[in-house]
Amino acid sequence: MHKGPRYLLMPQENTRALAFLRTAEWRCQLVYLDPPYNTGRLRGARKLFRDACNKDWRKEVREVVQGSADLLGPAGFLAASINQTELFTLKQVLDDALGEKCFVGLFPVKIRHRQRQLMINATFHDLYEYLLIYRKNPQARFITTQTPSRPDKFIHSIHLLGGPDQTMVVRGKNVQVYLPHQYEIAETGYSPDALRRYVIAGKLATANWSGEWYETHLKHLGENLLIQVPGLERDGLGYRWFQTGNGKRRSGVYFQSQLAAGRPLLPTNDLDFTEVVPTIYREGGPGCDFKDSKKPEAILRFLMEICTRPGDSVLDPYAGSGTTLAVAVKMGRSAAVIEKDRGALKTLKTRVRNLKAGRDLDGVKHEFALEHVVPLSPGPGDLARAKQ
Ligand SMILES: C[S@@+](CC[C@H](N)C(=O)[O-])C[C@H]1O[C@@H](n2cnc3c(N)ncnc32)[C@H](O)[C@@H]1O
Repeated sequence: MHKGPRYLLMPQENTRALAFLRTAEWRCQLVYLDPPYNTGRLRGARKLFRDACNKDWRKEVREVVQGSADLLGPAGFLAASINQTELFTLKQVLDDALGEKCFVGLFPVKIRHRQRQLMINATFHDLYEYLLIYRKNPQARFITTQTPSRPDKFIHSIHLLGGPDQTMVVRGKNVQVYLPHQYEIAETGYSPDALRRYVIAGKLATANWSGEWYETHLKHLGENLLIQVPGLERDGLGYRWFQTGNGKRRSGVYFQSQLAAGRPLLPTNDLDFTEVVPTIYREGGPGCDFKDSKKPEAILRFLMEICTRPGDSVLDPYAGSGTTLAVAVKMGRSAAVIEKDRGALKTLKTRVRNLKAGRDLDGVKHEFALEHVVPLSPGPGDLARAKQ
């Protein structure tokens, strides 16, 4: 009996490997599909890479989708990355395989900055890729519950007594300003609506988004003001409260709600990975710069957080450089990954060695065994080994 997560690498054609996993009655909670995008485009600064343009793309992907869907557990999810070239084709294929009623949603993934227009010959600057997410059972829900990390800290309440004194536009946001006699802030003790108070000093003033915002745009507005800024943080309230400093307490403060920290909060589909995309080549450590549409680990982390729990299994039939495998290891999920290309497999194995040796970006040594399963003509031993 195996205890703990297991990691299977199947270095071969995905349809064949999927058939094998099916025979072995292997099941998973999440399938991640990252097929070639079929654009036929030349890529890279020196246009050295041409994406495949395959007339059988629909047929081939349909086989993989079907083979993967068959392996999904009863409350499982399937997520597929694609850009707009084949978005609608893939949607149709997925609808056919999983059923339209099992479509959860379209998650646009922002991968490029508006300002960084490198493809000057294109007709427009495409900022997005897409994730199509399906579930095996139309009743299945994303995992959303989070417990408050420090309930003892959520003890502050804000009461408005009048106002606001004025509304002003600051960096495009309608900011409301309350004078000292227009509000009260009290320590009322813990309640689900109570807020946590952060003093904006040290790193909070320089390396925290709310802190920086306060220092740059609000600090100078006056003493002892209560300021509401809409849409600043995704903590579920839709706004953030700040209080400016005074003669006795020079630093400002801001208040965080428990909606993000404690209560169920639904995932949103405004995924923005523009900050990580330029450094993806470094993910996985030395030797893992992979040119074939390598994905940010943050995408897989997001999917595993909302679709799986520790110990669940994840399947990736287009493993490439092993992003899914790496995130599964870091998050304690089991994984089966399939890849047929020798170059990709070489990168994936380097990534595995880096993970074990702590050469990945986080510098942590991860202990795990990667089991190779090569069922070209599976025997009973292979089947028994792959069974969970
Ligand atoms: C877009 S890349 C995946 C990139 C990956 N998500 C990553 O982050 O590195 C697609 C991968 O699927 C592999 N692939 C394409 N068709 C396949 C097939 N029929 N069987 C197995 N692997 C396949 C390609 O070799 C390529 O490495």
